Order: sequence, then C-alpha cells, then structure tokens
Amino acid sequence: IHPALLHLLYCLLCSAGEEVVRLQELEGNTVTIHTGLTGVQSDAHILWFYGPENADIKIVNSLVFKGETNTDYPSERFRDRLQLNRTSGSLTIRNISREDYGVYKLQIITERTSVWSFSVDIYAPVLKPVIRNQAEKHSVTLRESCSPLCSVENGKDLSLSWYEEKERISSISSSDSSERLYLPLNKTNPNYSTYTCVAANPVSSQTTKLNITELCYNSTGKCYHYHLDLVFYLILIEL
Ligand SMILES: *[C@@H]1O[C@H](CO)[C@@H](O)[C@H](O)[C@H]1NC(C)=O
Ligand SMILES: *[C@@H]1O[C@H](CO)[C@@H](O)[C@H](O)[C@H]1NC(C)=O
Ligand SMILES: *[C@@H]1O[C@H](CO)[C@@H](O)[C@H](O)[C@H]1NC(C)=O
Ligand SMILES: *[C@@H]1O[C@H](CO)[C@@H](O)[C@H](O)[C@H]1NC(C)=O
Ligand SMILES: *[C@@H]1O[C@H](CO)[C@@H](O)[C@H](O)[C@H]1NC(C)=O
Ligand SMILES: *[C@@H]1O[C@H](CO)[C@@H](O)[C@H](O)[C@H]1NC(C)=O
Repeated sequence: IHPALLHLLYCLLCSAGEEVVRLQELEGNTVTIHTGLTGVQSDAHILWFYGPENADIKIVNSLVFKGETNTDYPSERFRDRLQLNRTSGSLTIRNISREDYGVYKLQIITERTSVWSFSVDIYAPVLKPVIRNQAEKHSVTLRESCSPLCSVENGKDLSLSWYEEKERISSISSSDSSERLYLPLNKTNPNYSTYTCVAANPVSSQTTKLNITELCYNSTGKCYHYHLDLVFYLILIEL
C-alpha cells in the first residue's frame, strides 16, 4: 500500500471512532486527563498530541524497546510539567495555564491504533465583585439616594448575578472580556433582606454581600444628603 493511502485510511478510522471529552479546569491547578482505561498493554506505544485547535504537536512519546520503556516529552513548553501513566494512558499536567487550552489527543498503538480526544478549557479564578452606590456618581435626587451597583472584571464565560436570599433576580454576561461587567440592583426600595452579588465562571465563583446600612445609610452618606438638601434649600431661597 502507498503510504499516503495508508495515512488516509488511518485518518478515516481515527475520526470515525472519535468522541471528544470536554474538560473545564482552573488555571494553576494540576490536571489529570483521565482515560478511564485500567490495563493498557504493557508494550503499547503511547503518544499524546496537543494543539490549540488541532492536536498536531507531539508532547508525549512512550515506547517499549527490547523490554525497556522510554518515555520522552518532546515539547519544550510542556516538558517539565507532564507525567504519563502507562497503566491508564492518563496524562497529568502540572500548573496548567490559560495558554494550555485546546485539544489533547491520545493515541495508543498496539496491534491496532486507538485514539481519544479531549477538549480542555482553562479559566482564571474570578475576582470578588465590588458593590458601590451608583447614586453617588450622578446628581443625587433623594429618591435615588441608594442604588447599589455591582461590578467585576470580566473574563471568559463569566456571569454576574444578584441574588435575593437564594433566588437569582438578575444576571448579565458579555463575551467581550475587556469590558468590566456592571449590574445594578434594580430595586427601588431595597430592604434589609439578604442581597448578594455573585461573579461566576464554570470553575469558580466569588460572592459579595450587600450591606445596605453601610452602602446607603452611612453617617458620611447622611451628611452628604443633608448637605445637598441645604444647598437645594439655599438655591430656593435665592430664587
Ligand atoms: C496509574 O493508573 C492506574 C490505573 O488508573 C492507577 O491504579 C495507578 O495508581 C496510577 N499510577 C500513578 C503513579 O498514578
Ligand atoms: C505556574 O506557571 C506560571 C506561568 O504560567 C508561573 O508564573 C508560575 O511560577 C508557575 N508556578 C509553579 C508553582 O510552578
Ligand atoms: C429595572 O426595572 C424597571 C422597572 O421594574 C425596568 O423597566 C428596567 O428595564 C429594569 N432595568 C434592568 C437593567 O433590569
Ligand atoms: C424584604 O423584602 C422581601 C421581598 O421583597 C420580603 O419578603 C421581606 O419580608 C422584606 N423584609 C423586610 C424586613 O421588610
Ligand atoms: C453593615 O455595616 C455596618 C456599618 O459598617 C456594620 O455595623 C454592620 O455590622 C454590617 N452588617 C453586616 C450584616 O455585615
Ligand atoms: C461609609 O463610611 C466609611 C467610614 O465612615 C467610609 O470609609 C465608606 O467609604 C463609607 N461608604 C460609603 C458607601 O459611603
């Protein structure tokens, strides 16, 4: 058989049996890509490939020659962070970074070749959302004296939500990671029941509790309003 034909045949076979397992992981963690296999043939030739879109960079090459196992990690970038388990074919990646997202492909060659594919997404831990009183920023009318605004630095698949007790009352997300996310607590007269603002991505979350006393009925806040009232009053007198 012509080598090109062999290659074509092989690729038809490998794409036919391919089912992609999706993993979502937290940046900095040690991640093991489990295969679910328990007894890989001891003389199998095991290969792992990686790529952001297509797994075309060889990162593990493990073969048995004359009874001796030789496991090589050819990729400079991954070398010191990889560990192959020859019993299961599983691959452990230490200190995974956001740049390590993409497709990981395992090839086990014995009498036949088997292929497994994994799609790995890496997320940064979300930051704690910040609650400010939006009213301070704009010209303050008394009715709008308290309008909590929650915000957080945006990131991949991040959402920002307000909860009243355990119920989610509003939520926002944006695919534009460069823009900070803002979500007002859309309540005209928030009472003292528990409001929390939660920022979450698929692997982590952070919660900030709203303290209405602190945010809206602060002693400084009061002074501010009294002061405004006084100014308003003086303007009226002037008129
Ligand atoms: C390798 O995988 C096998 C099967 O999953 C497991 O029993 C064994 O503990 C693993 N070895 C190491 C060093 O993690
Ligand atoms: C983990 O990787 C980051 C870069 O991605 C590096 O700055 C950091 O020092 C590494 N941490 C450890 C414990 O190796
Ligand atoms: C806030 O509530 C008002 C009325 O309840 C509604 O018209 C407005 O669209 C809401 N705004 C947001 C951002 O949810
Ligand atoms: C706060 O509001 C919720 C619903 O809006 C209500 O169930 C609860 O009784 C209120 N609590 C107080 C102290 O007013
Ligand atoms: C809210 O803030 C006030 C003023 O800083 C503080 O005295 C109070 O303990 C806080 N309440 C909660 C539930 O954290
Ligand atoms: C509440 O008061 C404290 C100190 O009195 C101040 O540091 C804080 O900024 C005030 N918060 C608001 C929302 O005005």
